Amino acid sequence: MRRAQPCAVFQTPHAMKRYQALADTMAAEIRAGRLPVGTRLPSVRHLTTQYGVGQSTVFRAYYLLEEWGLIRARERSGYYVAPGAMLATLATLATQTPAAAPAPLADPAPIDVSSLVFSVLDAVKRPDVAPLGSAFPSPKLFPLQRLAKSLAHATRMLDPWSTVVDMPPGNEALRRQIALRYIGMGIAQPAEELIVTNGAMEALTLSLMAVTKPGDVVAIESPCFYAALQAVEHLGLRAIEIPVDPRDGLDLDVLAEALDKHPVRACWFMTNFQNPTGATLSIEKKRALVALLAKHEVPLIEDDVYGELHFAQDRPPPAKAFDTKGLVMHCASLSKTLAPGYRLGWVAAGRFADDVRRLKLMTTISTSIPIQAGIADFLQHGGFDKHLRKLRGALLTQRDAMEAAIARWLPEDVSFVRPDGGYFLWLKLAGHIDAMQLHREALGHGINVTPGPIFSARHAYGNYVRVNFGHPWSGQIEDAVRVLGELVRGRG
Ligand SMILES: Cc1ncc(COP(=O)(O)O)c(C=O)c1O
Repeated sequence: MRRAQPCAVFQTPHAMKRYQALADTMAAEIRAGRLPVGTRLPSVRHLTTQYGVGQSTVFRAYYLLEEWGLIRARERSGYYVAPGAMLATLATLATQTPAAAPAPLADPAPIDVSSLVFSVLDAVKRPDVAPLGSAFPSPKLFPLQRLAKSLAHATRMLDPWSTVVDMPPGNEALRRQIALRYIGMGIAQPAEELIVTNGAMEALTLSLMAVTKPGDVVAIESPCFYAALQAVEHLGLRAIEIPVDPRDGLDLDVLAEALDKHPVRACWFMTNFQNPTGATLSIEKKRALVALLAKHEVPLIEDDVYGELHFAQDRPPPAKAFDTKGLVMHCASLSKTLAPGYRLGWVAAGRFADDVRRLKLMTTISTSIPIQAGIADFLQHGGFDKHLRKLRGALLTQRDAMEAAIARWLPEDVSFVRPDGGYFLWLKLAGHIDAMQLHREALGHGINVTPGPIFSARHAYGNYVRVNFGHPWSGQIEDAVRVLGELVRGRG
């Protein structure tokens, strides 16, 4: 096994911490192929002497390289260049040149975003890190004890035959409860067209599989929920990005042009509290969207996981409410509203219900039967609406607290559009700020923010970050925003 020679150049550019400079220097060596996969990196003691830095500087540099996926630790043996290092370089490449937002209508292109996304998401798992980059609200906001009671009760009462009976489309009592919620939105949703899935993610992916084949063109948003990009990448599809304005949402003119010019087989859009911008389409735009797609006979995969988290009086309807042709596949879940970790989602799949049901059987067979029964029990007896009212109230308070902290600590040129629901702020920073670098630097201070480039097939939005306000206000969060402000100012 080759042993690495210490890298020759180690400069500390202005405003860059020494461990970051060291990590950058070594990352450049790995990227350039001068440290091939499997190479053992110099010992901590060696680097300490070589560069005249403290041990903690070297350790932090190695942790950073690990975070970027470039190196791996082996117990009692040291650090080695990781097998996926060349893939992981994508993540760091994106740190170097913040790209501009994409042109209004570019040609469809394959997607390659996964390694960048994984390197960012790995950091979310660290419990010591301030959760501004989390995709979830705080678990403290969910009635986990009451849910556990429903689960215990339903499991005790479970009919042994439910193992077969509750196979896709899923537990009937649960689907009836879900269908009732559609009635609350003014949608007569037949329970037969509802397929229970493992979270919304499976609902969305199965829907996409049902209406496309590899090489097809699909329209997605820009910026876009990163898992949609990954699903498109995984299924070998080509994506055409339709811009989303944080205030007005999806650009329907660009979509109309795309539908005219390209053989778009499906659209995957969020109509309420879009992730990451927070934008909600007006009722007129939802109607127009459904009509436009109906004209072209193009299915809409509608991701509505945040629709229930509205701050105004009424829930904004989904585009599904205006669908008369069965073309809208409305996907949602309880992951953000009631039961994170239970992985309970569904799709109201319209005319594609049978295809999705079969795909569900072929891929994961069934969603956990006891979980389906437990959630059905909770929806019937657990006070879901009361819980939702409390949750929305908490999120609204936290949004206001986050806004106030941002006004206190971040520079005045940081801007965002206030969302009316969900729990994300999409912050636009000054043009010269590199969000990937800020993300890495913030992690070094125990703070996680989600950098803009992971929301784009082309790693655009280089000066944006998404900030989560789904956690009750605390000293830790206030401090995190303060330090974030210092880091942003430090780059001024
Ligand atoms: C926009 C969006 N869609 C779908 C999902 C996935 O939802 P679930 O956890 O129910 O699979 C998420 C989760 O982060 C999301 O943010």
